Amino acid sequence: MIRRAAAALLLLAGVAAAADIRPSRDFLSPELRAQQDDPSRHPGWLWVEEGEALWARGARSCQSCHGGIESMAGVAARYPAVATDGALLNLEGRIERCRTEQQGEAPFGYESEPLLSLTAAIAQRSRGMPMSVATDGAAAPFLERGRAFYETRQGQLNLACGQCHDDNAGRRLRGDVISNGLGTGYPAYRLEWNTLGSLHRRLRACSLGVRATQLSLGSPEYLALELYLAARAQGLPVEAPGLRR
Ligand code: HEC
Ligand code: HEC
Repeated sequence: MIRRAAAALLLLAGVAAAADIRPSRDFLSPELRAQQDDPSRHPGWLWVEEGEALWARGARSCQSCHGGIESMAGVAARYPAVATDGALLNLEGRIERCRTEQQGEAPFGYESEPLLSLTAAIAQRSRGMPMSVATDGAAAPFLERGRAFYETRQGQLNLACGQCHDDNAGRRLRGDVISNGLGTGYPAYRLEWNTLGSLHRRLRACSLGVRATQLSLGSPEYLALELYLAARAQGLPVEAPGLRR
């Protein structure tokens, strides 16, 4: 009886937590938030500008097929997404596909300057737009995989993502205020990195934080997780490029 009551309470807590997911910017210090909003004081804008230049560069440029980069407005809000061949692609993966299949060039490589720049420039065109990833149909199995990863206790500390990002959001940990763990601000300029970095780089930092195996950038597990994080952020604004301490 008591156990059943406890289970019901937990269930209620779960629903309340889900309704409680707040934009990442709400957890930033007022100073960082103001700086994130102001391109003239945001070091990440160097990457945005470099990405816009890359977009138009070369004979078979991105622009030659897509037109001006403003045509990318709203795209980042829909990623990760399942491609026609059934693969789950995040924005980085989608750009790499065009790089290899449409431009016939060698891939840029995850976390490379050109890929980070193009990703930042494209994501910036969705700034302020609500996240709206597809979660049904072909995306459903990936979403489930991401959810399972999110809910599994991991590492020597034996912690699931939600034990920090749901149960302890708003509390301080090693100088940070714990957010709801969304990917909406990525790629982000992190002062600790002294550079722009991808969401998967941030996920590796959380894996390390609980002393779990750090998976590789672009791994299927992190891709599925990225989709689940995007589903949690559904309706919340894209903040990329974010600014983090
Ligand atoms: C030769 C033409 C061509 C070039 C060059 C090209 N693309 Fe594409 N791109 C496409 C096509 C076609 C699609 C749609 C593919 C699909 O839906 O399967 C696409 C899709 C995309 C998408 C996803 C759009 C969406 O609405 O989901 C992004 C982002 C993108 N390209 C970025 C780039 C970038 C960045 C470059 C330059 C590095 C580039 N593309 C170069 C043809 C091109
Ligand atoms: C021990 C607590 C802890 C655990 C467990 C943890 N994280 Fe984090 N995570 C943090 C802290 C602290 C930060 C930095 C502050 C912030 O942005 O929340 C962070 C940041 C993040 C961010 C960046 C948010 C932003 O806007 O910059 C994401 C995304 C994230 N975590 C996802 C995850 C995922 C997914 C897992 C599970 C695989 C996970 N975290 C596990 C503590 C944790």
